[in-house]
Amino acid sequence: MKVLILPDEKAATQRAADIVARTVTANPAAVLGLATGGTMLPLYAALVQRHRDDGLSFAQTTSFNLDEYIGLAPDHPCSYHTYMNDALFSHVDIDRARTHLPRGDAADPQVASDEYEDLIEAAGGIDLQLLGIGQNGHIGFNEPTASLGSRTRIKTLTTSTRRANQQYFASYEETPRYAITMGVATILASRKCVLVATGAAKAEAVARMVEGPLSAACPASALQLHAKATVILDQAAAEGLKLTDYYENVHPQGQDSVFD
Ligand code: PGA
Repeated sequence: MKVLILPDEKAATQRAADIVARTVTANPAAVLGLATGGTMLPLYAALVQRHRDDGLSFAQTTSFNLDEYIGLAPDHPCSYHTYMNDALFSHVDIDRARTHLPRGDAADPQVASDEYEDLIEAAGGIDLQLLGIGQNGHIGFNEPTASLGSRTRIKTLTTSTRRANQQYFASYEETPRYAITMGVATILASRKCVLVATGAAKAEAVARMVEGPLSAACPASALQLHAKATVILDQAAAEGLKLTDYYENVHPQGQDSVFD
């Protein structure tokens, strides 16, 4: 696992944007795995800016989002479809026909989940998967004890996740209880993963992910099994790590090593 520690959120965001931009520039038809949540908003803003200022093009890219709430139609204001439109898709040249999110309003969410896996496979798999991390160590909506071998399916959200996401809904009761999410094994099948975590509230989960035991109790720790996983942190999110000297030594100020 590559651990890059940047001075602040802005630097961490720009570092993640560099990796996305490099991927899309090297392979314009790249398949991107996208994430939602507050952490990703400045990252998408940075990509929109690069599209406007530097001509970064998504015209040929394909995208698959990690998850969607069950019960919310794409046009629901709190759906992840809406989030992606507002944060990224409406502001860049991506072909909407090549953007994918699970259908939260599917008549049979498990059938929709299986079809989503098939679509990812038909697209040739995911080249670069973006990830956030929950305070409880979730990736996607793979909550603690999620099978490390799981594929896209229905998950019940924990109380802590619903409370964290309540801010986007009118009340806790209205915050969805269920989601369709890529599984841990779906995420691990991507060719590269980039997880971004910023802020002190993530420090404990980050420490468990990077230096804790591999365990379904912290689904993000499964990234220890991924051959190309990069974790981009700001100082606050890195606070709980013990081996910081080593990470700084290998990647001073979060920069590539001479062998990258
Ligand atoms: P956040 O969510 O970026 O809103 O903190 C991350 C996550 O829950 O995966």
